[in-house]
Amino acid sequence: MSRVRVAVIMGGRSSEHDISLASARSVVESLDPDRYEVRPIEIGRDGQWELGPARGQSELAKGGEKLPVPLNGSPQPFEGVDVVFPVLHGPFGEDGTVQGFLELAGVAYVGAGVTASALCMDKDLFKAVMRDKGIPVVDSVTVLERQRNRVENPFGFPVVVKPARLGSSVGISIAKTPEELSRAIDLAFEHDEKILVEEYCAGIEVECSVLGNDSPIASIPGEIVPLVSDWYDFSAKYDEGGMDLIVPPRLDEETIARVQELAVASFVASDCEGMARVDFFVLDDGEVVVNELNTIPGFTATSVYAKLFEASGIPYGELLDKLVDLALERQERRERLKY
Ligand SMILES: Nc1ncnc2c1ncn2[C@@H]1O[C@H](COP(=O)(O)OP(=O)(O)O)[C@@H](O)[C@H]1O
Ligand SMILES: [Mg+2]
Repeated sequence: MSRVRVAVIMGGRSSEHDISLASARSVVESLDPDRYEVRPIEIGRDGQWELGPARGQSELAKGGEKLPVPLNGSPQPFEGVDVVFPVLHGPFGEDGTVQGFLELAGVAYVGAGVTASALCMDKDLFKAVMRDKGIPVVDSVTVLERQRNRVENPFGFPVVVKPARLGSSVGISIAKTPEELSRAIDLAFEHDEKILVEEYCAGIEVECSVLGNDSPIASIPGEIVPLVSDWYDFSAKYDEGGMDLIVPPRLDEETIARVQELAVASFVASDCEGMARVDFFVLDDGEVVVNELNTIPGFTATSVYAKLFEASGIPYGELLDKLVDLALERQERRERLKY
């Protein structure tokens, strides 16, 4: 049986470049060499695409051949590739841009399509769709750059300010006074032209992994306990020992089932495919609200996404097999459509 040829795209232009490299390294190392021929492609922070050596040869994606992508739009790098695995976080990777490029190239790829990727990257639009489908989300007001001098905070203090389309807690603040709010707004606008002023949620943070195409399944959820900060900021997320993941969360069975139900419901409502990690707050009164949905969550073998499926009986290697199969299945299905 011939091996499936998988191109793993990593790096990218966003501030989550290094996080992506860590995720992709795990993916490249864990794809079963008997089943897959793996080709790393690294996008630099300057947007230049570079083809790495096939796995097994020297360093990942270093000293490779520069690809004529996306400068002249040639889909050449995917010739002979069966599946592309975009392991890119944040803007220019998780937001539908690379997915659009892969659609034009006509190649199968892992994870959410163009619309779902773009929708879920935008916390404002994502919440609008969730509200329309009756899924509870955190209350917020959206502020555009041109409205920045007329920001109203209907929530009192503390209040959360965040860029609409970023990740890894970059540009987010929890403001406790009007002065802090004003600084928080300035910071968020450094990262995006659209920001959210959001009601502060007192309670615990719970995350749930989802896997599948038309019949997605939810993992056992996990509870996030930040250890180095009062909230789940960048260092709590990525520093060694920055957080504890408690699986299952310290919640009653009914609440855990509600988290799983809402995880699948928001995955379906946003047209996701392949994978996603859905993040929640469970408020002090037991109410479960969706915070956000990540279409390409942190993806090392020890990231929350993988750990939750591991605890649910699907180890990392098997998770990769399933994601590749789901990508091929979608491509096959779509090839039957008439446009
Ligand atoms: N409304 C909120 N109430 C309380 N904490 C929040 C709220 N929004 C965000 N946070 C904190 O900030 C973290 C990052 O926010 P999130 O919206 O998930 O953005 P990102 O896409 O950067 O992960 C959350 O995990 C949580 O710790
Ligand atoms: Mg988050």
